[in-house]
Amino acid sequence: MLPQIDPSQTIAWKQLTQHAERLKTQRIESLFAASPTRASDFSAKAGNVYFDYSKNLLDTVSRTALFDLARECQLPEAIASMRSGEAINETEQRAVLHTALRIPAPEVPKEASARDRHYNIHQVLEQMRVFSDSLRSGEWKGYSGKSITDVVNIGIGGSDLGPLMACEALSPYMGRINVHFVSNVDGAHLSRTLQKLNPETTFFLVASKTFTTQETMANAHSSRTWLLSSAVDEEHVARHFAALSTQSDLVESFGIPKSQMFAFWDWVGGRFSLWSAIGLSVCLAVGFDRFAEMLQGAHEVDRHFFEIPAEENVPLLMALVGIWNTNFLGCTTEAVLPYDQCLSRFPAYLQQAAMESNGKYLNRSGKPLTYTTSPVVWGEPGTNGQHSFYQLIHQGTQVVPCDFLLPARSQYPLVNHHPKLVSHCLAQSQALMRGKSTDEALRELLDAGMDPARAQSLANYRAFPGNRPSNTLIFPQLDPHHLGAILALYEHKIFVQGVIWNIFSFDQWGVELGKQLAGQILKDLENEVVSRLQDPSTAELLRIYGQFNLSSK
Ligand code: F6P
Repeated sequence: MLPQIDPSQTIAWKQLTQHAERLKTQRIESLFAASPTRASDFSAKAGNVYFDYSKNLLDTVSRTALFDLARECQLPEAIASMRSGEAINETEQRAVLHTALRIPAPEVPKEASARDRHYNIHQVLEQMRVFSDSLRSGEWKGYSGKSITDVVNIGIGGSDLGPLMACEALSPYMGRINVHFVSNVDGAHLSRTLQKLNPETTFFLVASKTFTTQETMANAHSSRTWLLSSAVDEEHVARHFAALSTQSDLVESFGIPKSQMFAFWDWVGGRFSLWSAIGLSVCLAVGFDRFAEMLQGAHEVDRHFFEIPAEENVPLLMALVGIWNTNFLGCTTEAVLPYDQCLSRFPAYLQQAAMESNGKYLNRSGKPLTYTTSPVVWGEPGTNGQHSFYQLIHQGTQVVPCDFLLPARSQYPLVNHHPKLVSHCLAQSQALMRGKSTDEALRELLDAGMDPARAQSLANYRAFPGNRPSNTLIFPQLDPHHLGAILALYEHKIFVQGVIWNIFSFDQWGVELGKQLAGQILKDLENEVVSRLQDPSTAELLRIYGQFNLSSK
């Protein structure tokens, strides 16, 4: 059981509230002026990932109070509960053990349950290795005897976002198999993907923990029909489909033999399932060994999180800085800004990981919260974002804490490109912190020869408030190891925040109502009626929809 402590009633929370009042009148730059070693004092390393949080409106005393908050909320006890396999996902009565998926054999705990779990995990990993080797080498043949050239992962949410993001991130390691992802029930997604493919050389992975998700099953059935339109014989389905799931019976009734089911377990949450069989598309894209390196990178961060003291513990620091900005400085969103085009899907992946986990309004006793939980997470790779939404980050009315992610080396070393990218990344966090005063802006305009009256009228617009917080994560390069490490850092950040906010981070009941109502609306659409169950607005929209449909017939 996780502790049930209202963080807002702790001593630390009260102290933090006072610290925030005091610090709100200061500038981040003045904290640097007061402490020449601030840059290194407010940074920490997890393996080779360097986390700089010095550009936050946070000083040593307020940081100590954040550590106290974590202790008062019994974070160490909560970590122990997670690691020991307690059902800390209480509303679903499940353990939360995605970290077990990346434990190497010599480090598996001695208890029988951990040994059994590890045995099962490694059976599946071995199955993934053998299968991906066979498909990648061209040994696995489709129904007409040709080797497979394209793999389509059909899944949504955690069964899509993680592997899609990882395949993008690891594109420099891509082999000869093209991997595609279809998630949306909008027929456009599947149709546009299949348009380019040949059924003889296409293989489908149906990725679904529950094997009941409407979107995934609709896409899987349509793909099966597409395959059979040329393969004809139902027997051929087995040569072209595998399932990644926890539900063997449902997989078999779909027509996928047990031998082509890659299992995982209910203690792997959907949004934390990249490390399980759900990662098979990654193995097929970049090879099993690369996938194993990703697991190893994540495992090193797990060890760091479990073993390193709070002051040096990067995911803990990431979580506490986030809580500081959200709960004490009043920020309601967080931007994640990777300066690496290969991380283009990372913000989308993180949105699910953070917001499906911590977008909760009830505490662990089922009572409404009196404080804020997950900020809205969003972002785009730099430098693209600079030319779209950074205007708001620099001069908008709300303060948006930013995480900058920066690989030191590029995997695509085009002459002179990477230093440009790096310069932009570092300049953005500098600009956010420093800002520019109206006087500085005025001086620049006058120095550039502008007419004084015009310069006066423009100076305010060209000034920046600054004092806006950001973190920077620098790592050597975006290889499988460091990708695994970064993902694990964010996973643990999310866990810590959920513990402190006293919420259940591992369920997602908030996605259910829409699914339920869609069922009733679908019935109305199929029967061409507007039932009395619909509210007046929805009823009217259904009528308009019907009229459009009639007029297009
Ligand atoms: O509807 C939300 C959700 O349950 C996510 O939590 C999950 O990742 C996704 O749907 C897909 O679920 P499944 O893997 O069972 O198809």
